Amino acid sequence: MRVSIQKIQQYKDNGERFPVLTAYDYPTAKIIDEAEVPMILVGDSLGNVVLGYESTVFVTMSDMLHHTKAVVRGSKKALVLADMPFMSYQVNPSEALVNGSKFLQEAGAQAIKLEGGEEMAETVDTLVSRGIPVVGHIGFTPQSAYQIGQRVQGKTVEAALQLVKDAQAIADAGAFSIVLELIPTEVAQIITEKLPIPTIGIGAGPHCDSQVQVVSDMLGLFTDFVPKHAKQYTEISSVMRKGIENYVGDVKSGSFPSKVHGSNLSENVLNELKSHL
Ligand code: KIV
Repeated sequence: MRVSIQKIQQYKDNGERFPVLTAYDYPTAKIIDEAEVPMILVGDSLGNVVLGYESTVFVTMSDMLHHTKAVVRGSKKALVLADMPFMSYQVNPSEALVNGSKFLQEAGAQAIKLEGGEEMAETVDTLVSRGIPVVGHIGFTPQSAYQIGQRVQGKTVEAALQLVKDAQAIADAGAFSIVLELIPTEVAQIITEKLPIPTIGIGAGPHCDSQVQVVSDMLGLFTDFVPKHAKQYTEISSVMRKGIENYVGDVKSGSFPSKVHGSNLSENVLNELKSHL
């Protein structure tokens, strides 16, 4: 049985913090699931950290469904949350419903996430009232980066108040959780205390009910840059580089493959084969 949205709510009700991590493929999802992370986000950050795009706006429904299926196959217990890509939900609530349902029905996710505040409340309501569990996402919303810039949001009184209104509107519309990305610690704390649903922070300070990290950042796999909000727990790219360099050296020197990596004919078969040549 996978973690339910009721279990996610229980974490908040019991004052228990919980970790969330992104995953984009089968083996990573398997490791995260085995580490008892209760929620795995198939983030459209895969556009940056897996596909090498400069923006998540290039990520398509087909990309997201493909990677979500792999994460679902790799995990047994975690709730799998899939990001709705750019323009798959912004046009109107009906389109959001058609696209959102694909994540549950075709890809096997249990919930979807979409970016936006008050302006997306009607869409959230449409999805939730038709049976699609939704997580909101406010603050820095990467799909709008061309418009809002790559920076902390909610730093003025007016902007912070708008974030509080946005969070409330998304919660009132029925979202079961909300991501707060790149907002001041104090604003995240106010929102976390006001909302009945769990907040999931990234670059939003320690007071959120949960924290999410992009797995490629925290493992040191994505090497283009390390975001300020990310903590590198290891530097897996160095381990990979070393392994690959060793392989290159072994192939060039002829020390790979060795006898144990191959198979041989029996002497009889070899002799008979030679007699036919
Ligand atoms: O796409 C993603 O990985 C996200 C997280 C940054 C929350 O939305």
